[in-house]
Amino acid sequence: MKSIEDVKLIELPKFLDARGNLSFAENNMQIPFEIKRTYWIYDVPGGESRGAHAYLKNNEFIIALSGAFDVIVDDGQQKKKYTLNRSYYGLYVPAGLWREIENFSTNSLALEFGSEHYDKADYIRKYDEFLKLKSDGKI
Ligand code: TYD
Repeated sequence: MKSIEDVKLIELPKFLDARGNLSFAENNMQIPFEIKRTYWIYDVPGGESRGAHAYLKNNEFIIALSGAFDVIVDDGQQKKKYTLNRSYYGLYVPAGLWREIENFSTNSLALEFGSEHYDKADYIRKYDEFLKLKSDGKI
């Protein structure tokens, strides 16, 4: 059973250069799983929230490529808020946790890597259902 202690904020390599900085993340290296999918969230109105759900199987790695937003992780007992506002940090969020992304800044860009292909059956969208699965030890 995953808890919020399993969430990790990972500092990515960065090459600072007067011509512009460069950072990277590699499969099974800085990103601690095999990547099957990437997607990004953009053109979010300032202050908006998205993604209040849990995944059964999908592990994710979230980078604020531009701008800022807050990722709230919740294991049914404890919650923690991570503010992502630098493009050289990634947040690893394993499956089995409730997560929500809030407070997007205008023009922010969220890049997400996933360990699974998109599958709508992998989502738990009802918080009470999440709490029940957690208390039954099923996720
Ligand atoms: P969803 O994950 O529900 O976004 P949020 O939780 O922030 O509201 O995704 C929104 C829509 O995008 C949903 O109808 C399914 C589609 N989608 C894909 O087809 N593939 C993907 O990899 C993702 C993440 C979403």
